[in-house]
Amino acid sequence: MKAIQVGLLGIGTVGSGVYNVLKRNQAEITRRAGRAIEISMVADLDTARAQAVAGSTAKVVKDAREIIANPDIDIVVELIGGYGIARQLVMEAIAAGKHVVTANKALLAVHGTEIFAAAHAKGVMVAFEAAVAGGIPIIKALREGLTANSIEWIAGIINGTTNFILSEMRDKGLDFGVVLKEAQRLGYAETDPTFDIEGVDAAHKATIMSAIAFGVPVQFNKAYVEGITKLEAQDIEYAEQLGYRIKLLGITRRRPQGIELRVHPTLVPAKRLIANVEGAMNAVVVQGDAVGTTLYYGKGAGSEPTASAVIADLVDVTRLHTVDAAHRVPHLAFQPDQMSDQPILPMEEVLTSYYLRLRVADQAGVLAKVASLLANAGISIDAMLQRAASDVGGAGSTHTDLILLTHEVREGAMNAVIAQMQALPTVLAPITRIRKEELA
Ligand code: HSE
Repeated sequence: MKAIQVGLLGIGTVGSGVYNVLKRNQAEITRRAGRAIEISMVADLDTARAQAVAGSTAKVVKDAREIIANPDIDIVVELIGGYGIARQLVMEAIAAGKHVVTANKALLAVHGTEIFAAAHAKGVMVAFEAAVAGGIPIIKALREGLTANSIEWIAGIINGTTNFILSEMRDKGLDFGVVLKEAQRLGYAETDPTFDIEGVDAAHKATIMSAIAFGVPVQFNKAYVEGITKLEAQDIEYAEQLGYRIKLLGITRRRPQGIELRVHPTLVPAKRLIANVEGAMNAVVVQGDAVGTTLYYGKGAGSEPTASAVIADLVDVTRLHTVDAAHRVPHLAFQPDQMSDQPILPMEEVLTSYYLRLRVADQAGVLAKVASLLANAGISIDAMLQRAASDVGGAGSTHTDLILLTHEVREGAMNAVIAQMQALPTVLAPITRIRKEELA
C-alpha cells in the first residue's frame, strides 16, 4: 500500500526527533501501522536547518501553506507552537480536509473547542498525545484505557522545568535563577519561560486532561494558575520537616457542584510515589472509581520522548483514516453531543488543605489566638511546628515562625481566616499559604 504522506510544520527539537525515530524504527512502525509513514514535505522558516534534518527525502519549503495546499498530503503535523500562526494553519489544514497531529497544548487549551468542532464537521482527526506530558501516553490512557471509569481526580507533575527547578533547589540548595538557566540550556523550558514558572504551561495541560476526564469543553480561562516564583526555600525545608515535598501540581477534581481545575505549588506527603518524581520527569496520577489509583511516569519533554507521542498519533491516524468518522475515538473522549456543562468552580469553592507559615511575635497567647480563629471558622489543625525564636531570628530574637497544617476546608473560608490572622498585631509579616493534597 502507498505510504501515508505527512507534512511537518516546523522542524525544531521535536520535528528532528520525529524524523530520527521514524527513520530508525521505520520497519516496526510500518508493521504496526499497516503501511509506511513518509514525511514528504517540511515547512520551516529556516530552510537550511530543515534541509539538514530532512536530507533529500522531503521537499523543504518556507511557506507552510504549500503543504496544506498539496492534495497528496494526508496528515499535517503542527510543531510550531503558540496561539498565533499555528492556530490559523491548523484551521486551514482542517478546512483542507487534512488530519492534524499537534503537540501544541497552548493552542488546544485555549482554542480547542473551535478546533475540535471544525475537525468534527470536516470528518478529520486532530490528535494531540504530545501536548500533555510529552512521551507519557496519558491522553491514550484517559481517553481509551480508562474509559470504563468515572474519573474522580487527576493530579500531575506536568511541567518538567518547574519540577527540575524544585528538585535542584531542594537537593543542591541552588538559587531559582541558576536552575532556570540550566533548564533552558537543557531544552526543557518554553520559549517564554514565564509560561513554565508561572504555571501557565501546566495549566494548559491540566485543562486538556480535565476536558477529557470529565467530558467538559476546554476552558483554560477558568483555570486557577499559580507558579513557583514566590516559593521560598524555607518553606521547602519546613515542609520536609513535616513529612511533605512541594511540587507544582496540575489538579482537576470532580465535585458535586462542579469541577476543580487548578495549578499551584502543593505539599504532597513524601511517601507518595509522585512526591519522589525528580528532575524534569513528569508523572500523572489518575483516580478512577473502578480501577482505583493509576500512575503514569516518564519524560515530559525532549526531542525523542515527544516524538514518541507524535508518532503514536501518526500511527493512530494512519490506521483510522479510512474508518467512518463516527467510529473513531472522539477528540475529548465523550461524543460531541454528550459533553457536560458542569461548571469549573471558582477557587473560593475549591476544597483543599493548607500549609500556613506565620511570622509571629514570640509572646504568650499568640498560638492560642491563631488557633481560636481557625476553630471559630470550623477549620481543624492537622499538625503544627514552631521553631525556637533563636533558630529563626538569631540570639535574642523576639519573633518566630509558626507553621500549621490544616484539614480540608473551602478556600473561601480559609481566605477569610487568613485575613483575620493577618490583622493580628502579633503577626509580623505576610502569611505564606501553600495548598496541601494528601492524594490518598
Ligand atoms: N516546557 C515544558 C516542560 C515542555 O517544561 O515540561 C513540555 O511541554
